[in-house]
Amino acid sequence: MNDLTDHVAIITGASSGIGEATARALAAEGMRLVLTARRADALEALARDLPSAISVPGDITDPELPATLISSALEAFGRCDVVFNNAGVMEVGTVESADVERICRMVRVNVEAAYRMAYVALRQFRRQGSGYLINVSSILGTKVRPGAGAYAGTKFAIEALTEALRMELAGTAIQVCAVEPGLTRTHLQDHFPEHPAQALGLRQMLEPEDIARAVVFVLRQPAHVRIPRILVMPGEQAM
Ligand SMILES: NC(=O)c1ccc[n+]([C@@H]2O[C@H](COP(=O)([O-])OP(=O)(O)OC[C@H]3O[C@@H](n4cnc5c(N)ncnc54)[C@H](OP(=O)(O)O)[C@@H]3O)[C@@H](O)[C@H]2O)c1
Repeated sequence: MNDLTDHVAIITGASSGIGEATARALAAEGMRLVLTARRADALEALARDLPSAISVPGDITDPELPATLISSALEAFGRCDVVFNNAGVMEVGTVESADVERICRMVRVNVEAAYRMAYVALRQFRRQGSGYLINVSSILGTKVRPGAGAYAGTKFAIEALTEALRMELAGTAIQVCAVEPGLTRTHLQDHFPEHPAQALGLRQMLEPEDIARAVVFVLRQPAHVRIPRILVMPGEQAM
């Protein structure tokens, strides 16, 4: 897709952070957007700010929502070219401190809902013969650290799915990519007692726009080029 003009993308987790920045970046490329997340007010404000976007609020763990998003894209815009599978949460904790209920809720958002969205999107892409699924993983989809094993596990699951899908879809016009952000300034870790930037001694995190720029780069490659994974890290982040 060298030219993204008038192509249509669904963006999950569009109400803040990486999803919102990616919505703005894809809109600047001329794309039409279907935005989803739970915070309807934030979504609607964003949709109003963009030239061609609709909001479909909902909880991504609702098993019906992925199909609703696809049908909303087809009804509003007549096509669906890209799914940016981004909604996520982060729970950490040691053996003693981890809240197992919150961890299981994270698994439902980061793995179950992301898998449902992926398969619903890919079946639509199969019907139309083309499409691009971008799954948001993490640097913690490539390595682990103490206290973050459960979160890393959800992102390893995204990596495994994305790589197997790449193999399954090789030779077709359906593409997949795992985007692996390093530490990015968003609301993901707002509930942590100590922000990871402090723990890691980082003075400068990535901005959500840095990830959005990588997403545009991935989407704008010519058809014969595949970027199955893209790791984007702050200059100071050693791990
Ligand atoms: N920030 C980082 O350092 C970093 C690094 C690597 C990977 N990531 C990944 O990047 C993705 C985006 O996170 P972010 O950093 O941009 O954080 P964020 O600002 O907290 O955004 C998370 C988004 O996910 C949505 N979301 C969470 N739970 C949801 C649910 N049950 N149903 C529907 N939407 C839900 C939120 O919307 P509502 O609250 O309105 O529902 C929000 O729009 C996540 O997959 C995260 O794991 C982030």
